Amino acid sequence: MADFQTRDPRSPAFWDERFDKQFMPWDHGGVPARLRQFVQDSPAPLRCLIPGCGSAYELVFMFDSGWDATAIDFSPAAVAAARLVVGERRAGQVVEADFFAWQPTAPLDLIYERAFLCAMPRAMWPQVAARWAQLLPPGAVLAGYFFFDDNAKGPPFGVSREQLQELLSPYFDCLEDEAVTDSIAVFAGKERWMAWSRRAG
Ligand SMILES: C[S@@+](CC[C@H](N)C(=O)[O-])C[C@H]1O[C@@H](n2cnc3c(N)ncnc32)[C@H](O)[C@@H]1O
Repeated sequence: MADFQTRDPRSPAFWDERFDKQFMPWDHGGVPARLRQFVQDSPAPLRCLIPGCGSAYELVFMFDSGWDATAIDFSPAAVAAARLVVGERRAGQVVEADFFAWQPTAPLDLIYERAFLCAMPRAMWPQVAARWAQLLPPGAVLAGYFFFDDNAKGPPFGVSREQLQELLSPYFDCLEDEAVTDSIAVFAGKERWMAWSRRAG
């Protein structure tokens, strides 16, 4: 395993180092099945944000399905990797930006979550939940994959059901909560597909 100089996942340098060394155990290598289904089942094309997009496989799939999607990541190395994946035509939809500072140019319908909450230390989670809520108008949806574990060391930092409920219930109602069938090794048996609807107020 590679030796790492950086230890703080709150810093873009931490993720740069891992992308540069091609150490990405979280990387699915493609579009996960439940997201494919969610996109295909959507009655209308959605405007979606993919925060902490990493390789951003999902972006092209969303575009090819007629959606308007923007992928953001604060690591320049992640952005470079994503632009290679999405190709020249879609490269402009991958933006180097901090999730806490990025501003949408039009109201979002959906935020897609995968391995972003669990990439951050637990102390930051209330800020993440509040930002999700701030970015999504009432009726819009937060959907994706949530990692459940009580591991001390991370990333990935797992959440408990109680913690997730506590984080999201002030802003969101749970619409979908399902087992995942195509997890990669680091998440196997510990992740669930969930969709949460933004409540008014
Ligand atoms: C574990 S990776 C997951 C990448 C991708 N979502 C996936 O499923 O493969 C976490 C990503 O979140 C990015 N990230 C962490 N904090 C961020 C922040 N505040 N703003 C934007 N990106 C962030 C990292 O640079 C990294 O690419």
